[in-house]
Amino acid sequence: MAYLMVEKATKQFTPTFKALDEVSVSVEKGEFFTLLGPSGCGKTTLLRAIAGFSDLTIGNITLAGTDLRKVPPHQRDIGMVFQDYAVFPHLSVFDNVAFGLKPRKVAEAERKARVEEALATVRLSALAERMPAAMSGGQQQRIGIARAMVIKPRLLLMDEPLSNLDAKLRIELREEIRDIQKQIDIAAIYVTHDQEEALAISDRICVMSGGHVEQVGSPQDIYGNPQTLFVANFVGTLNKFKNGTELSRLLQSVSLGDLMGETWTIRPERLVLADGAGSLGSGFVLNGTVRKYTYLGREAHVLVETGVGDLVVHISNPGRSAGQHTGEPVSVLVPREALMGFDSAGKRIAIGG
Ligand SMILES: Nc1ncnc2c1ncn2[C@@H]1O[C@H](COP(=O)(O)OP(=O)(O)O)[C@@H](O)[C@H]1O
Ligand SMILES: [Mg+2]
Repeated sequence: MAYLMVEKATKQFTPTFKALDEVSVSVEKGEFFTLLGPSGCGKTTLLRAIAGFSDLTIGNITLAGTDLRKVPPHQRDIGMVFQDYAVFPHLSVFDNVAFGLKPRKVAEAERKARVEEALATVRLSALAERMPAAMSGGQQQRIGIARAMVIKPRLLLMDEPLSNLDAKLRIELREEIRDIQKQIDIAAIYVTHDQEEALAISDRICVMSGGHVEQVGSPQDIYGNPQTLFVANFVGTLNKFKNGTELSRLLQSVSLGDLMGETWTIRPERLVLADGAGSLGSGFVLNGTVRKYTYLGREAHVLVETGVGDLVVHISNPGRSAGQHTGEPVSVLVPREALMGFDSAGKRIAIGG
C-alpha cells in the first residue's frame, strides 16, 4: 500500500459541476509528486482535500494507512506552502517560522532548535530577526517553506509556490526546493501549471485536465511517451500533420495505413532537416520550403511548409544547418518511430515495429 493514497476523489461543487471526478493517485515516502494542469483543472481542490481544508463529496484519502477524513486538519501533520507566501507581516522571520509550533505545545528550547534548523535549511539563519516586509519575494517564500517544514510534517503540499516570482528566481528556488525535499526525505505534492517546472523538479508527474487524471508517469514518460493528445499538447511543443490523401499515402508507405487515426503528430526535435534529398532508415521524407528561421543560440527553430502542413523543426547546435534562408527548399526526414498517433477520443495509438 502506498504512503498516501487518494481513491476515486470526487468533488461536486454544484449539481452539474464536478471539480474532481474520480481522481486516484498514490505517493510514496520520499517522492516528489507533481500535479500539472491548466488553471481550473482541480489541482488546488485536490490539495485542499488532502490538507483537510475541504471535504470530498465521494472518495477516500489515507496517509500511512490512516483514514485522513477522520483526522482534523491540524492533526494531520501536513505542511502547506502557498502561492502568496502567507507570511505574517507583524512577526519577525523567526516568529513566523515558530508560529506553526504553537498549537503543538513544543517546549521552548526545542522550539528554538527546530526553528533554527528550519531557517538553516532554507538559508535564512542570518535574517531571523528581520521583518518580512523588508524581504524579497524569494526570501518570503523561503519563510513559507521553513514554516511548513518546522512541524516535521509527514507530507509537504506546495500550491504554485513560485508563481509570483520572476523567471530567474523561479528556476533558482525550484532547484532549492527539490534539494530540500531530497535532504529531508519527505513525501511532497507540488502543484504547477508550468510544464517545464514540472519536468525539472518531479520524480513523477500527474497531468490533470477538467477534474480527471490524464496520465501519471516519470518526466521522461510524460514528455516522451504521452498517452493522450492532451498530454502531448500540454507538455512540450507538438507538430500536427494535416489529414488528407497525402498523409494517407505517407502513412501507407511506412505500413501505418491501417492506423489512419484522427491525429498524427511529432515533436519538433524529432524531425531532421537536410539540404537536397535526404534519406533515412525507417520513415518518410517530405519536400518543403523554409518559411521562417529563428536562431536562439543553442538551438534554432525552422518553420517549414510541406504537403502535410507547416511543421516546426528544432535543431540543436544550429551553426551551419540547412534551412537558414526563407524560401530555401529543404527535405524534412520523419522517423517512423517518432510518429505519435491519437484516435478520435484522443487516446494514443500503438504503432508497433
Ligand atoms: N468553492 C468553490 N465553489 C465552486 N466552484 C469552485 C470552488 N472552488 C473551486 N471551484 C471551481 O473548481 C474548478 C477547479 O478549481 P481549482 O481546484 O482551484 O483549479 P486549479 O487549482 O487547477 O486552478 C474551477 O472551475 C473552479 O472555478
Ligand atoms: Mg490552483
